[in-house]
Amino acid sequence: MVAAARAIETHRVDALARDAHAEHFVRAARASAGWPTRPRQVPDGDANPLWGRLGRYFGLRTRVIDDFALRSAHAGARQVVILGAGLDARAFRLDWPPGCAVFEIDRAEVLAFKRGVLDGRRATPRAARVPVAADLRDDWAGALTAAGFERDVPTTWLAEGLLLYLPHAAERHLVATVDRLSAPGSAFGYEAKLDIGAPMARDSPVYRATRRQIGVDLLALFDGDPRPDSAADLRTRGWSTAVHTPFDFTRHHGRGPLPEPNDPLAPNRWIFARRP
Ligand SMILES: C[S@@+](CC[C@H](N)C(=O)[O-])C[C@H]1O[C@@H](n2cnc3c(N)ncnc32)[C@H](O)[C@@H]1O
Repeated sequence: MVAAARAIETHRVDALARDAHAEHFVRAARASAGWPTRPRQVPDGDANPLWGRLGRYFGLRTRVIDDFALRSAHAGARQVVILGAGLDARAFRLDWPPGCAVFEIDRAEVLAFKRGVLDGRRATPRAARVPVAADLRDDWAGALTAAGFERDVPTTWLAEGLLLYLPHAAERHLVATVDRLSAPGSAFGYEAKLDIGAPMARDSPVYRATRRQIGVDLLALFDGDPRPDSAADLRTRGWSTAVHTPFDFTRHHGRGPLPEPNDPLAPNRWIFARRP
């Protein structure tokens, strides 16, 4: 779904981010082969709650995290770890500084699907790309270290669209592990949803449209635990944090979703943490 949103974003005249691989991921999976990958394939355009408003949200999120990751890499954090990387093609899309390594952690079957599509396109990464098969509910630090991660090198960590799928304990463990593996100068950019199940938002058009249009019940995929306050956790560990709403960046870029009543995006935060 995120890949389809990125494909649509790529072909908007005012695209916030471009990902030439995204439409190929969508076409390659039987479940999504018929989903839209162009703005003209969405009959009601921006009024469509799924491919319009939520799609634009994913486009904005992609752009904001692209900017954060590149800023951090160019400031010296030459190791990047993408947690729950899924079909994130940043290793192939972005202009990484020389000597940058990009580790992509996800489950083995997701990485195998991704490899099949990218190999078929003869895609060439623009950094030293290292896929790492691991379950983030387990002790994943060993797999990352065995793949060549160096804990004394400043690192940019990314968790985009991930934490709301993890149990409370796994998120707490993830933050503690990021902290333990982060040399000074590291940075962590992630998305949090402060409250997943606000009753009014549960019945919002975006969840209904997602069920009706593509048969995906997002609320059933989200983890049901109360969310930990990971930004506060990072601060007690000595990190500085900047906590933003997505709407801050809509205003900055002049496009993207704006608040609406009973908005399921209202509890979303994009958090940028730095270890001095
Ligand atoms: C919504 S996708 C987002 C993917 C990617 N960050 C992006 O923005 O394109 C969530 C990703 O988290 C991964 N994920 C969820 N739970 C996981 C777990 N326990 N261990 C490893 N990966 C997990 C999924 O396989 C999926 O690729």
